[in-house]
Amino acid sequence: MTEFGPASWPPVPISTDRLVLRESEGRDRAAFIELFASPDVGTYLGGSRERSELEREIPETPGRRPGLFVVDFRGAMIGIVTLDRRDTARPGHVRPEADEFELGYMFLPDAWGCGYATEACMAVLDWFASSLPGEPVVLCTQTANVPSMRLAAKLGFSEVERFEEYAADQWFGIWTQATASEGLVSRYPSPPLRPPTGTVP
Ligand SMILES: CC(C)(COP(=O)(O)OP(=O)(O)OC[C@H]1O[C@@H](n2cnc3c(N)ncnc32)[C@H](O)[C@@H]1OP(=O)(O)O)[C@@H](O)C(=O)NCCC(=O)NCCS
Repeated sequence: MTEFGPASWPPVPISTDRLVLRESEGRDRAAFIELFASPDVGTYLGGSRERSELEREIPETPGRRPGLFVVDFRGAMIGIVTLDRRDTARPGHVRPEADEFELGYMFLPDAWGCGYATEACMAVLDWFASSLPGEPVVLCTQTANVPSMRLAAKLGFSEVERFEEYAADQWFGIWTQATASEGLVSRYPSPPLRPPTGTVP
């Protein structure tokens, strides 16, 4: 047993129409550095990090831990999707024990606008649902992060609450297999979630 129930980790690589979701490897290191050094990626995640610092600190095989999927397009990493237990001290929980799995995603800017994040997150949520049936997944994103808000809606997350954290308005939502089926019916809702009013290895 792993924390993902009977599912073993690392899982057998998951193939979608265009992508492969797999455990990280040494050859992904440059892409990890790119991801965390990118000011565009860091816009709603507290900013980017110095490339030189990342070069020094990032291990030879970064991000090798249960719940971190590298998203591979034609043999190269284009992003990551993560499932981690949400920190109990942070606001935003749906269970008394506050030990929900939280979905995270970060893609390299060159891979934005192609539907890769939707495709990858849907596959990860499917994998999660078959590993731990009935378990909810939560997601927290800044309301100002429009692409992320749209992604949450397409995946079938439902709003639980909004709150302020890190001096920004946050949207907090929940996904279950039930909300997912609704999401599949309206994968591209129109209009999307309310317009904006205003985290990994
Ligand atoms: C959040 C993030 C992953 C969203 O990426 P994205 O590429 O916009 O998301 P999607 O995969 O859903 O792609 C959707 C876009 O692809 C377009 N698209 C093109 N081809 C497509 C296809 N074959 N299938 C589906 N969508 C397609 C869609 O029309 C949509 O464009 P639109 O938003 O202009 O309508 C990305 O902005 C990111 O990595 N941001 C930095 C990290 C971050 O902020 N993470 C949030 C943590 S809470």
